[in-house]
Amino acid sequence: MASRTSRRLAIASAVAILSAGLAGGVVAATTSSDEAALAPARASADRGIEHRVDALLRRMTLQEKLQQVQLLSDGQITDADAQAGVGGVFSLTDPKRINELQHIAVDKSRLGIPILFAYDTIHGYRTIFPIPLGTAASFDPDVAETDHRIGARESAAVGLKQIYSPMVDVSHEPRWGRISEAAGEDPYLNSVMAAARVKAAQGRNYAAKDKVVTSVKHYAAYGQPEAGRDYNTTDMSEQRLRNLYLPPFKAAVDAGSDTAMCSFNAINGVPGCANKRLETDILKNEWKWDGFIESDYTAVAELLNHGTAENDVDAGAQALMAGTDSEMVSTFIRDKGKQMLAEGRITMARLDDAVRRILRVKFRAGLFDNPYVDPAKAEAAQELPDARAAARKAAGRAMVLLENDGKVLPLDPSKKTAVIGPLADNGKDQIGPWWGRGDDSKKVTVLEGIRAQSPGATYAEGCKVSGLEPPDYDESQDCPDTDFSAAVAAAQAADQVVLAVGESRAHSGEAASRSVLDLPGNQEGLIKAIKATGKPFVVVLFNGRPLTLDGVTGTAPAILESWFGGVEAGNAIADVVFGKVNPGGKLPVSFPRRVGQVPIYYNHEPTGRPCDATSKYNSRHRDIKSCDPQYVFGYGLSYSKFEITNMRLSATSVNANGKIDASMDVKNVAGPTGDEVVQLYLHDPVASISQPVRRLRGFERVTLAPGEMKTVTFKIDKSDFGFYDNSGKFVVEPGRIDLFAGNSSKATMSTSFTVTGGG
Ligand code: NOJ
Repeated sequence: MASRTSRRLAIASAVAILSAGLAGGVVAATTSSDEAALAPARASADRGIEHRVDALLRRMTLQEKLQQVQLLSDGQITDADAQAGVGGVFSLTDPKRINELQHIAVDKSRLGIPILFAYDTIHGYRTIFPIPLGTAASFDPDVAETDHRIGARESAAVGLKQIYSPMVDVSHEPRWGRISEAAGEDPYLNSVMAAARVKAAQGRNYAAKDKVVTSVKHYAAYGQPEAGRDYNTTDMSEQRLRNLYLPPFKAAVDAGSDTAMCSFNAINGVPGCANKRLETDILKNEWKWDGFIESDYTAVAELLNHGTAENDVDAGAQALMAGTDSEMVSTFIRDKGKQMLAEGRITMARLDDAVRRILRVKFRAGLFDNPYVDPAKAEAAQELPDARAAARKAAGRAMVLLENDGKVLPLDPSKKTAVIGPLADNGKDQIGPWWGRGDDSKKVTVLEGIRAQSPGATYAEGCKVSGLEPPDYDESQDCPDTDFSAAVAAAQAADQVVLAVGESRAHSGEAASRSVLDLPGNQEGLIKAIKATGKPFVVVLFNGRPLTLDGVTGTAPAILESWFGGVEAGNAIADVVFGKVNPGGKLPVSFPRRVGQVPIYYNHEPTGRPCDATSKYNSRHRDIKSCDPQYVFGYGLSYSKFEITNMRLSATSVNANGKIDASMDVKNVAGPTGDEVVQLYLHDPVASISQPVRRLRGFERVTLAPGEMKTVTFKIDKSDFGFYDNSGKFVVEPGRIDLFAGNSSKATMSTSFTVTGGG
């Protein structure tokens, strides 16, 4: 008999197949009957909107159209811009000023077109949730859903109507600081999280008072900059682009995201915001998407630096004609659009199309009917108790237990606890690189969280991590100490130690690429000094990227990856450390042993000489005695022990358009109630182009009481066993498909089925 879990998956997969097409079986947050009811309502509303858009567009002068494609920052916007009919403003969050500008736009501009106000609500607006890489580690789309539902509510309350999220850049680059902002190295996990975020932020109708339109970014392949250096160039095959990097964008668009942001980087020599093939051919035409694309910050002006445009007229014209609809910060199209038209560099049809797309989103956002926000109510919507509770739960679900030798964890709160380390009482850094409007006074640090559950806990900082940004950043200021005597004394006087180490928030995020992935400074020295006291201890990690933890793994008996967990990180860490919450997160990205292994990722293609650490002439590093990363994708421990067994299929063969079910049982065989993430991987062993050794195609986080067993069922179809070839065509090839199921990308339980026919 099907369990509740398997029934839920069946419904979700059925919806996914309806709505996700070839992008992959993305678990949707609505049921199939919701979808059916939604479609006609949207169609008729859209017909009304299209009439209103056309009527308005007919009344617009050239100058008004050029203003509409302009997007200005909070530092740029003036009353005069609002009166001239500027299209959008971002980063302005004062509701009074938002209203003031909106009144000017609506009451004083000739056509009264409202402004679209936008903000980077990435992992929270005021209530800051874990960084998206952490949320991905929860392997639970409900965490992403809650994050964006609350982020939308708090943002909309101050008058924002667009958020520049979700960020869905798949990345195999831990050196890149922005790996913190998306869901890691896997396209399927990124797709599931992206769809959940979009649906939560937009709801059924983003005109609702607590909803906003999402902007999926950065389109495209921004996550693979050479050398991991932010903004750097990207060069990749068509099949990689389509199989690895585009699926989360498609998932976000299928989930309803009506705006997107083009990327800074060049892809095969063509910058993202001047990339006609990506913007117009694929996103707008192939995917039949009617939303609008804004450029990233000054990305249109940067076409000059890229060396693909010779001046502002050239750059603006290239961007617009490629499909960029709105220009952020630079003002080339607004200022030189008239000349561009006169010289035949742009067409009125394309300009009209851009304006039409922007107006369409503004109508859908309800801005023409309800342009204003009530500033008196803005504050009342922030950091409500349900938001704080959700942030605490999310931070707990995001945590990954990497080591727990001798069952050091959970600690006993009645014993004397010392809380040590540069991240131990550091509310500023724990909220990560996109802290939105997080309120400094309201963050719960590790020390505060531990003290709430283990009163009298003592504290020693040990050393400091530098919060400085380039060009002032100086790595010698990160934990330069060698004398840790105060920390050692605190450890010696206690029964147990919680040691919080890691990066500052400035080490991760935009423009924060690193060439070394070790813990900054001499934090390993601090860990060794605590180890020497002989006290039981756990290392709690704060970081926005995979770190090289070779030195830590050999020293610390217990390691808890907490990412940057947000405003409630301290409470959530105490919950896990003292066993109120049983950790169940899994790594959404591989942790290398050494930086020289990068890029190292589970979903790599095979080679003619697969890595074998015991012999010479094969694809390996001679100075590393392993082919694997330190911690593999999908890995994570629990206080309980689970077994995943009995994989069975609903059929042994399937035709190209058929579906097959893969079921397996998961049981809690030892320990308290806890969560296991059942993971399904697929491999096509013989194909026209070499296929990744494994690809995640399904997962489900299941909660099990002691001794409890559940059955999990995954639906598999061509979106799983097909792939894009190098001509950009989606193909399904006949032959054997191997499946692996288990609790990490190293899962060993396997079975196979055959695909008959092709397509
Ligand atoms: C630049 C970043 O790349 C992008 O993610 C962000 O949305 C914009 N700045 C606006 O803040």
